[in-house]
Amino acid sequence: MALIELQDVRKTYRLGSTDVPALRGVSLAIGRGEFTALWGPSGSGKSSLLNLIGLVDRPSAGRVRIDGRDTGGLGDAARARLRNRAIGFVFQGFNLIAVLSALENVMLPLIIRGESHSRAHLLASQRLAEVGLADFARHRPDQLSGGQRQRVAIARALVTDPLLVVADEPTANLDARTGQQVIELMQALNRSHGVTFLFSTHDPRLATYMQRVIRLADGALHDAPDGIPLPQGVAA
Ligand SMILES: Nc1ncnc2c1ncn2[C@@H]1O[C@H](COP(=O)(O)OP(=O)(O)O)[C@@H](O)[C@H]1O
Ligand SMILES: [Mg+2]
Repeated sequence: MALIELQDVRKTYRLGSTDVPALRGVSLAIGRGEFTALWGPSGSGKSSLLNLIGLVDRPSAGRVRIDGRDTGGLGDAARARLRNRAIGFVFQGFNLIAVLSALENVMLPLIIRGESHSRAHLLASQRLAEVGLADFARHRPDQLSGGQRQRVAIARALVTDPLLVVADEPTANLDARTGQQVIELMQALNRSHGVTFLFSTHDPRLATYMQRVIRLADGALHDAPDGIPLPQGVAA
């Protein structure tokens, strides 16, 4: 059974009196343990798709199944529970809380979930160590480099042991070398823990890290050979 299954998913935004079609019927399946890149130019619908898969937003039509459950019939509270249990998020802008330390940022999802302070402290410390930041636990985000901030965000996404980590252009605000290191870290975590990653990018320099590429153009998948080209270095 696929971890994520989308069936003819459509998303149309209402902007004033006009409809903006962002996804025009997307069907795909992602299995457990996959490391998948969502590849497409700006405006192709990557964020819209990740927001639907991450249960942040609802489709205008079509089905989104997570771990075999059709999420369409779930109310907001049930969706929030499933999201908190199953999905971790990494964002382009890191989205760390400025007044909290690195460790406190990683602890936060556990505290929200009702874990004790001592258990949250233990688990968050382990995750920070795994991303190579054991010595930076007390630093605030503004005392960390961009790459270090994104590592904190990855530790935060993983601390609840999600089924899936969704990363929307996680390297877009990083220089090339740092971006590669962040993707290498995600790949290492995918291999060591089997965490399923789905990350969007339009950076061809990350081609060597893409095991599976889902190509998106103008709100639709392009799997045909004459569709939008893959980044150099990715086998078709
Ligand atoms: N909240 C919104 N309201 C109206 N239009 C939107 C909204 N979010 C995205 N769009 C439009 O949907 C299309 C896809 O956007 P998006 O999913 O952000 O693509 P990408 O992440 O690949 O850049 C674009 O035309 C964009 O302008
Ligand atoms: Mg986007």
